[in-house]
Amino acid sequence: MAGGNYTQGNFAPVRDELTITELEVTGTLPAQLDGRYLRNGPNPVDDPDPANYHLFMGTGMVHGVRLRDGRAEWYRNRWVRSAEVAAALGESPRPGPVHAGMDFSANTHVVGQGGRTFAIVEAGSRPYELTDELDTVGPCDFDGTLPGGYTAHPKRDPLTGELHAVSYWWGWGNKVQYSVIGTDARVRRTVDVEVAGSPMMHDFSLTESHVVLYDLPVTFDGDKVASGTLPYTWNPDYPCRVGVMAREGDGSDVRWFEVEPCYVYHPLNAYDDGDRVVLDVVRHPRMFATDHNGPNEGASLLHRWTVDLVGGKVVEELLDDHNQEFPRIDERLVGRRHRYGYSVGLVDDMSGGPYADAGVGIVSSSLVRHDLVAGRSQVRTFGPGTEPSEFVFVPDGPDAAEAEGVLLGYVYDSAVDRSDLMVLDAATLDTVAAVHLPARVPQGFHGSWIAN
Ligand SMILES: [Fe+2]
Repeated sequence: MAGGNYTQGNFAPVRDELTITELEVTGTLPAQLDGRYLRNGPNPVDDPDPANYHLFMGTGMVHGVRLRDGRAEWYRNRWVRSAEVAAALGESPRPGPVHAGMDFSANTHVVGQGGRTFAIVEAGSRPYELTDELDTVGPCDFDGTLPGGYTAHPKRDPLTGELHAVSYWWGWGNKVQYSVIGTDARVRRTVDVEVAGSPMMHDFSLTESHVVLYDLPVTFDGDKVASGTLPYTWNPDYPCRVGVMAREGDGSDVRWFEVEPCYVYHPLNAYDDGDRVVLDVVRHPRMFATDHNGPNEGASLLHRWTVDLVGGKVVEELLDDHNQEFPRIDERLVGRRHRYGYSVGLVDDMSGGPYADAGVGIVSSSLVRHDLVAGRSQVRTFGPGTEPSEFVFVPDGPDAAEAEGVLLGYVYDSAVDRSDLMVLDAATLDTVAAVHLPARVPQGFHGSWIAN
C-alpha cells in the first residue's frame, strides 16, 4: 500500500455536484464579506485502487460558498474538467493549451487574478480556468504568455497585486522558473534558475526584495511513472538548501545556503531584516522516505530559518511544537514582517476513529493561531469527530490591523457526515457564524477568499 488508504472516512471522494441556494446559517455573517470562499482538493472521478492511489494525484474538485450582504447565496462543488474528467462524466472535453501533453485536473489550490478564477497545480501542468460559478472553461496559459506549467503556490505582492511564482517540471532538467503575472492575468516576466536536479519544489517565498527557492531532497523518480503514483521520492544524496535571488535578478545571482536535511511544503511567510532574510516554514524531518503518501515521516513543526546573507549561514529555530500544516497569514503582509499565523493542527493517534486500520498517518484536528511576537499559540477545536480544513484570513476592511478580521474554512463533522463553512474571529478563534452545508467537503488542500 502506498503508505495508507486515502479513500476512507473524509478522504473518500464525493460523487455529486451540488448547487444549493437555500443554506442554513447560525450566527451572523459579517456584511462586508462580499465574494467567494473557494477551496480545491483531490476527488477521484473514478473509484481509485486504494493500494495505488496517491492523495496528490486525485482529480480536482473545487468547493465554493458565495457570501453577500450577510447571506450565504450558494454552495457549489465542481470537478475541474480535464479531458479525463469530462470523459468520465460523459461530457465533451474543453480543448486548450495543455503543456507537454500533461492534461491534469488541477487539484491543489484555486486563486483569482484579473477578475478570473484559476484551479492550479504544480509539476508541469497548466492552470484550469473556471467561471465565477466554478464551471470549467479550459486549460489556461494566460493568453499565450506562460511558457510551461505553473505551480499551486503563487504569492500576491500586496503592493502591486502581481502574482509571483516558482514552477518546476521534471522535463526541464536542472531548472525551475520564476514568473510574475500582472493584474491583467498575463505573464510579464520569467526567469530560469538552475537547481541541483529535479526537485519537488512545492512552494517558494517572496520578500520585499528577494525570491527564495527551496531546493530540497525530494526529487523526480522515473521508476514510479509507470505505476501512476507520485513520481517523487526522498533522495538522501541530494543537497538541502535555500536559494536567495534578488527580485530583479536574472537567475545568475542566486546565493545558496545549506540547511539540515528535511522537507518543506509550505512557508508561512518571509521577510527581509537588514542583511538577513527570515523564513518561517513548516518543516518535515523527511518526505517520501518510508511512506510514499507522506504523513508517517515524523511531525511537521513550525521553524524559523534566519538566512545571514553576510555570514553565509542559516540559523534554525523551533517556533512551535504543534504538529501542523497549511500555514496562512494575513496576506496583506506577504513578504513583510508578520506577527500572526494560522495553521491546521494534526493528530497522529488514529485509534478508534475511521482511519484506525487505514494506515493514514495523521489527520487534521484543530486550528492553531500563532502569536510569533509573544511566542504563544492558541488552539481551537471543533468537537469530537471533526476535521478542519485550511483556514484563510480575511481582514475586516482595507485599513484593519493585522489580526482584525475573520478566518474562513470548512470543518467536517463525522457525526452528521456534513461540513460547515466556519467563520471565526481571527483574534479569539471564537465562532462568528457557520454556514451549514448539506454535504461533505472531503479533506483537501488550499483555498482562497476571492472578494467581489
Ligand atoms: Fe500546498
